[in-house]
Amino acid sequence: MLEIKNLSISFGGIKAVDNLNMKIEKGALYGLIGPNGAGKTTAFNMITGIYKPDEGSIVLDGKNITGKHTAEINRAGIARTFQNIRLFNNMTVLDNVKTGLHNAYTYGTLSGIFKTPAYRKAEKSMNEDALKLLQVFKMEDRAELKAGSLSYGDQRKLEIARAMATGPKLLLLDEPAAGMNPNETNELMDTIAFVRKEFDMTILLIEHDMKLVNGICEKLTVLNFGQVLMQGETKEVLKNPEVIKAYLGEDDV
Ligand SMILES: Nc1ncnc2c1ncn2[C@@H]1O[C@H](COP(=O)(O)OP(=O)(O)O)[C@@H](O)[C@H]1O
Ligand SMILES: [Mg+2]
Repeated sequence: MLEIKNLSISFGGIKAVDNLNMKIEKGALYGLIGPNGAGKTTAFNMITGIYKPDEGSIVLDGKNITGKHTAEINRAGIARTFQNIRLFNNMTVLDNVKTGLHNAYTYGTLSGIFKTPAYRKAEKSMNEDALKLLQVFKMEDRAELKAGSLSYGDQRKLEIARAMATGPKLLLLDEPAAGMNPNETNELMDTIAFVRKEFDMTILLIEHDMKLVNGICEKLTVLNFGQVLMQGETKEVLKNPEVIKAYLGEDDV
């Protein structure tokens, strides 16, 4: 599904990601872990077109997407969530999901202004699709609430729902459990497992919560100072002394 080769980027002479190689099979739930500042989010930013890599290539399902614009990469099938939640807090839950759906719907700007039948029809089916997605995430009863009024766990879930609304093949989640309590984290694990099954999704996950990583990821890549420290089956990786050492001194693990 995703093949990353020799991917590198520097900021002011410091290699934030240094020669990253990674291969993610279709249907995988793959984890990208490592201490703070290791380069995980930077890798996501290159995959999603926010940063242009200095070197290397990113191929999605046989299509080279290296250095393409974010919108194009999203249309090619990659959606993401952010380490710091990015929702439209003053918009309703339903409207937040609809911003994701805009990818799948096209009607001219003028028909939007004049609310032509084509526009009304698209708008109606968009409402229905957004509601269906909210049902999948068991949030349909909160459709008309402001996104900013939701609990932290629900905001995270809504961000995943909005990403799914763009119809991706590959979903990237950047520390989805950050700031969650253990109950919310458990619920999130169920949500991720459910999304994977329901939508037959391939998922790449950055996560700091080792319980979550251990519980749902089959394979891991560990980054440390921009470089791959280890790659392989979750169980093997997590008992590796080098990996354990990299995490020592981190207070949030
Ligand atoms: N736009 C940028 N400008 C300068 N430095 C950056 C930028 N983005 C990331 N970095 C640096 O790259 C390194 C990796 O950061 P990041 O990818 O956010 O780490 P992680 O997500 O693993 O915690 C850090 O040293 C960070 O300061
Ligand atoms: Mg990060």
